[in-house]
Formats: sequence, structure tokens, C-alpha cells
Amino acid sequence: MKLRATICRREHFNAAHRIFNPKWDDQKNLEVFGKCSYPNYHGHNYDLIVNVTGEIDENTGYVMDMGELKKIIWEYALNRFDHKNLNLDVEEFRSLIPTAENIAVVIWNILRKHIDKNKQLKVILYETERNFVEFSGD
Ligand code: NI
Repeated sequence: MKLRATICRREHFNAAHRIFNPKWDDQKNLEVFGKCSYPNYHGHNYDLIVNVTGEIDENTGYVMDMGELKKIIWEYALNRFDHKNLNLDVEEFRSLIPTAENIAVVIWNILRKHIDKNKQLKVILYETERNFVEFSGD
């Protein structure tokens, strides 16, 4: 029987955002989102943890090469987010509020296309040390 394991890679990026629903006026946004809705944006030091679960390959002893995982995370996702304004610079958030939940979903959807379908994928996004979101595609 093949053994299964989960590999975990932690990355870090910085980005600015504003939590704002364009269907509402500034007053309503302030009531719902508080300081997060201030018009001039604010930044976060995000930590992203990517978990890939699958069988340990007999030849390599790996579930997946960590170097390759790092490359995929940066090439397809974080290079587009790091030191950016998520609302203004990242296409996915032109019509999606860049909450930690939605950022985690967007990153998961990007990574899913580049990781072997036989492996399970989960992302955990820390917006602050105490607030974080998990998404596994369901
Ligand atoms: Ni924020």
C-alpha cells in the first residue's frame, strides 16, 4: 500500500486592499466593513500556506518537489499579488471583494490548474497573525 502525506509550503507577500462593495455607498460600507473600507486602502503582510496531499512516489520519496511547488506559487499567483494594490492591479478583484476568503479562493483556483489532479490541494491564508482562512475547493 502506498503511503500518503501532506507537504506544506509557506510563502509571504505584501499587498494593499480596500474591502468595499460598490453596490453600497460609503456610509453603508463603513457600517459593514469598518476601517477596512477606508477609501485610501491599507496593507497586510500575508502568509500563504499551501498544502498538497498525495501518495509518496517510490522513486523520489516525494509527494511533490517543494522547489517546483514554490515556483508554481510565485510564477502563477504571488508575482501578480506581491506589492500590488489588489483592488486596482489584480484582474480577479475588479469584480470580487478582496477579502481573505476571496483571495484564498482565487489563489486556490490558480494553483489547482498547475498541480497534479491526483493530489489534493488546500490553501491557508493568514491576513494577520490571528485571522486566517482555509480553502480546499469545496
Ligand atoms: Ni484589510
